[in-house]
Amino acid sequence: MRIDILTLFPNMIEPVLNESMMWRAKAYKFVNINVIDYRAYSEDKRKTVDDTPYGGGAGMVLRVEPVIKALRDIDGHEDALKILMTPQGIPFTQTRAKTLSKNKHVIIMCGHYEGYDERIRDYFDVEVSIGDYVLTSGEVAALVVVDAMVRLIPGVLSNASSAEDDSFSNHLLEYPQYTRPRVFEGKAVPDILLSGHHQNIQSWRLEQSESRTKKRRPDLYQKYKESKEK
Ligand SMILES: C[S@@+](CC[C@H](N)C(=O)[O-])C[C@H]1O[C@@H](n2cnc3c(N)ncnc32)[C@H](O)[C@@H]1O
Repeated sequence: MRIDILTLFPNMIEPVLNESMMWRAKAYKFVNINVIDYRAYSEDKRKTVDDTPYGGGAGMVLRVEPVIKALRDIDGHEDALKILMTPQGIPFTQTRAKTLSKNKHVIIMCGHYEGYDERIRDYFDVEVSIGDYVLTSGEVAALVVVDAMVRLIPGVLSNASSAEDDSFSNHLLEYPQYTRPRVFEGKAVPDILLSGHHQNIQSWRLEQSESRTKKRRPDLYQKYKESKEK
């Protein structure tokens, strides 16, 4: 998979890409990630990428020319899936992460300032929001999308089943997990997990996932029940 990230703040992105799973995914060539500073595509002397809004109002607006010039300079941009990060986009979910992770080439645009010149929207295929709140700029949001997508590329996680069991994978939250010690301050690991009985452990985990989801996320539990009825 190839990912190009259009940003004004490469330094916010690079360090995250060089740690943990993301570093591993790049090192083992599961993904090739390029970070592009679209300020470099501004043609004025001061390399500005924003301007005041027509009609007046607070804040600055991201200009269309540098963004589209940077986008068109990306090899293969015509065929790539082009994602615009915005709080006005469709909500990002695990299901969407799974679908996106199947793309060969994804371009992600990080906004800044008060908003985009509306015409920028015409050059992107999908607008994605990571939640109903407003961040200062798109970098953190883009990293959320990249991380969730990349860990789903087959082979990236050393144990593929860990992604299958993750919360949201089947409309369920993950079951409780324990590791050593067996007892901590009087709190013991459930006996079933020490039984060595694989089938019973699986049933216990499913029950725990179901009851936890029902209690914490009734909306998700409803979807789970509906998916089971299909
Ligand atoms: C300060 S926000 C602009 C918000 C804009 N005024 C609005 O109400 O839609 C600047 C940039 O941060 C990013 N951003 C902020 N919140 C986001 C969210 N919840 N999901 C995705 N991107 C977000 C977007 O790239 C956005 O263009």
